[in-house]
Amino acid sequence: MKSLPKYSAPADGQLSLAMLADYHEAGVLILEDFVSADACQQLQERALELVNAFDPAEVRSVFSAINQTQLDDSYFEESGDKIRFFFEHDAFDESGNLVQEKEHSLNKMGHAMHDLDPVFDAFSRSPELAAAVKSIGFDDPVIIQSMYIFKPPRIGGEVYCHQDSTFIYTEPESCVGFWFALEDATVDNGCMHFIPGGHKMGLKQRHFRGADGHLTFETLDATPWPEGMEVAAEAATGTLVIFNGRAPHLSSANVSEKSRHAYTLHVIDKTAHYPAENWLQRSPDLPLRGFAG
Ligand code: FE2
Repeated sequence: MKSLPKYSAPADGQLSLAMLADYHEAGVLILEDFVSADACQQLQERALELVNAFDPAEVRSVFSAINQTQLDDSYFEESGDKIRFFFEHDAFDESGNLVQEKEHSLNKMGHAMHDLDPVFDAFSRSPELAAAVKSIGFDDPVIIQSMYIFKPPRIGGEVYCHQDSTFIYTEPESCVGFWFALEDATVDNGCMHFIPGGHKMGLKQRHFRGADGHLTFETLDATPWPEGMEVAAEAATGTLVIFNGRAPHLSSANVSEKSRHAYTLHVIDKTAHYPAENWLQRSPDLPLRGFAG
């Protein structure tokens, strides 16, 4: 079985030629100790503050982690330029009460913390990350979305194999994911898995708003993913995983007693066309920003 390319993070964030070569070959690159444990803890503490300020009685939007979508739900669909909270599928009992504490009931928070919250903004626009993004080779990189992934103990949902460019589609495709382990991600608590080189197999689906106004999937290539090719991307706290928007990845359910918090940014090239049919749309009041300032 192939392994995933893994390095110690470069001090200045700039990727070496060897790192870039491995990234282009595997579609994924693991950089250990990219951010400090302190920075990870600060982001976790800020996330908890935001969660504590959120009243679950306001909305009970459940995110279907399995197929990474949430059809016909305006709370979700309008979250591209807001900070909103989405519950795990198994968060509620039959009476509609939370089975676990609120902070251990959420699937994710999204999708514009990087532009709306100063702590998330600072984490998302570090000089090291800006340098790593520049190394990848964008003309005009902008952060299209941020997600705080809780993957809570016992009820953290499984995520089927998918490609992020399915959801963050540009012409030409330009989406790259930057995933930070805020806690140790292991096989036991549902770490990501990737199919090395799978990004070369093309984009299999596109998620978009159809003429009827509803979000839907278009299948571009019905060939199933090869079985048994996925490799675990275990990641200690502070690790950055960079992956191509076409890189197929998945994660198992978290049935362990440990949460698996992570923070993800998706970067696109502003010079690429961003279709009006994409699910994530932003108000002109909150224009997309890159890494300056
Ligand atoms: Fe994903």
